[in-house]
Amino acid sequence: MEKILILNGSPKGKNGNTAKLIDQFMRGYQMIKSNSHIDYVELYKKNIKNCIGCFNCWSKTPGKCIHQDDMDTLLQQYEDADLVIWATPLYHYGMTSILKTFVERTLPVNKPYIIKNEGKFTHPQRCEISRKKNILISNCGFPEHHNFDVMTQSFKKITNDCIDESILCIMGELLSVEQLDGRIQWYMDVLKKAGEEYAQNGQFNLDTRNILHQPLVPVEDFIEIANLSWEAEGETPPSLDEAMNEKISSNTKHKKVESNMENKMVKYLQNSSVLGINGEKWMSISFIPWMLSWLFIGGSNILGVWGALLLSVVIVAIKMKSREVTYFEKMSVLYFSVLGLLEILGISFSSTVGTLLNYFAIALIWGVSVLDRKPLTADYSKHRFKKDIEGDIIFFKIFIKTNEILTLFWSGMFIIQGGLFILLKQLNLVKLSPLIYILIFVALKFTLWFSSWYPRHIISGHVGASNK
Ligand SMILES: Cc1cc2nc3c(=O)[nH]c(=O)nc-3n(C[C@H](O)[C@H](O)[C@H](O)COP(=O)(O)O)c2cc1C
Repeated sequence: MEKILILNGSPKGKNGNTAKLIDQFMRGYQMIKSNSHIDYVELYKKNIKNCIGCFNCWSKTPGKCIHQDDMDTLLQQYEDADLVIWATPLYHYGMTSILKTFVERTLPVNKPYIIKNEGKFTHPQRCEISRKKNILISNCGFPEHHNFDVMTQSFKKITNDCIDESILCIMGELLSVEQLDGRIQWYMDVLKKAGEEYAQNGQFNLDTRNILHQPLVPVEDFIEIANLSWEAEGETPPSLDEAMNEKISSNTKHKKVESNMENKMVKYLQNSSVLGINGEKWMSISFIPWMLSWLFIGGSNILGVWGALLLSVVIVAIKMKSREVTYFEKMSVLYFSVLGLLEILGISFSSTVGTLLNYFAIALIWGVSVLDRKPLTADYSKHRFKKDIEGDIIFFKIFIKTNEILTLFWSGMFIIQGGLFILLKQLNLVKLSPLIYILIFVALKFTLWFSSWYPRHIISGHVGASNK
C-alpha cells in the first residue's frame, strides 16, 4: 500500500492557510487513490529537539540520534513514506523553523562519507531517500512568486532534485478570509484537480500548473484588502495609491479613492425588494406590532399583547414566502408569545411596567444582534446591495460597521424613549407619550442618510489621515 507522509510545518497546524491547500489537494488525490495510508503530521505538536551537531548519529551510534523524542517515530515514517508532502508557510523567505528542525534531524539518514553521485559530491544514504516522491506546498503573504525562490532552491537540495510538483500560493492570507470563499473557489477547484492529476499521472497538467500560478484576486484588490485589514492600534495604513507607489497629488489621490468608493457603491447597488416592498419599508412595518403594544399594553391587552402577537406572526408568515424573515421579526414573535403566556398564567403588567418592559426588550434584541456581528439593520439594508459585496471584503466590512453603528443607535434610542416615557409619567403627561414615536420616524430618516454618508466618510477620513 502506498504510504504518504504529510509534514505540515505551520505553527497553526490544521487551522492554517497551508492546511487549506493540503486539504484541497488531498481531496482530489484521494478521489483517485482512496486507499493510500496517510500520516498527517502537525509538526508543531511534536516534541522535536534541535540538532546539536554532535555527529553521534554518524559515529558512536550510526543512524541513531542522541535525543529521544518524537523524531524516532517520525524518522521511521519518513523512511517508509513513498510520497512526502512538505508543507510550510513562507517565513522570512524560507520554511518555518518547525519544519527546519525536522529537516536537520534527518541527519541520521545519511552516512558521514562523501561520495560523488551523478557528478555531484554528496553523502551516501542509509535508506533510499532519493527514490521517494516529494511535493512542496506553501503559501506566503506577499503577492509575488519570487518570494519563494530561496525556499524552492533549498527543497531542491534537500530532496536531491526530486520535487515532483510545487503548489506555491501567493497572497495566502486570503485563504482564511471567509467572505472571499466564493471569489477564490476557482483556485480551490484547480487545486483539487491538481490532486486528481497527480494521483493519476504523477504530475500536473500544464494548464493546471499555470492556473495555480495565478493570483487569487487582482493585485490591487489584494493590496487594498491586506493594508486595510490589519486595523493596527494607533497606525494609519497607506492608501492604495501610496501602496502602489503612484506619484499623484494628494488632492487627486483623495478624489480618486472617493470616486473608487463611489464606483463600488454604484456597482453593488441594486433595487431589489422583498415581496415588492423595499428593505427599509419592511423595517418600519416590523415596528407596527411594537407600537400597538406600547399604546395598549396594560390597558387593553387584547391589543397590547394578543394584537401585537397576531401582527408579528402575520409579518413572519408573509415574509416566509420569500425566506427573508429577519432576526428582529422572529424575536418579536418570541417576545409577544412570552407576554401572551404570562397573561394566560395570570401575570399581567400595569401599562407603565409593560411599556418599559417593551422598551427594554427591544433595546436588548437590537443590542445583542451587534455582539453576534449580525447587526439588525443589515437584515433590511442588505437588499439595497448585490450579494457580491460579501466578496469585496473592504466594502463588506464598511457595510457591517455602518450597520453596527446604526443598530446600536437604535438600541440606545429605545432606551432614551423608555426614559422619556418615565419623564412624561412623572410630569403626569402620559397622554403625550405617543409623541415619543415621532422619534422612530426621525430615526428612520437618519438611518437612510447615515447609511450612505458614513461609508464615504470612512474612506475619505482614511485618505485624509494618510495625506497628513
Ligand atoms: C514570522 C513570519 C515570517 C513571514 N515571512 C514571510 C515572508 O518572508 N514572505 C511572505 O510573503 N510572507 C511571510 N509571512 C506570511 C506567511 O507566509 C503567511 O501569513 C501565511 O499565510 C501563513 O500560513 P499558515 O496560516 O499556514 O501558517 C511570514 C509570517 C510570519 C508570521
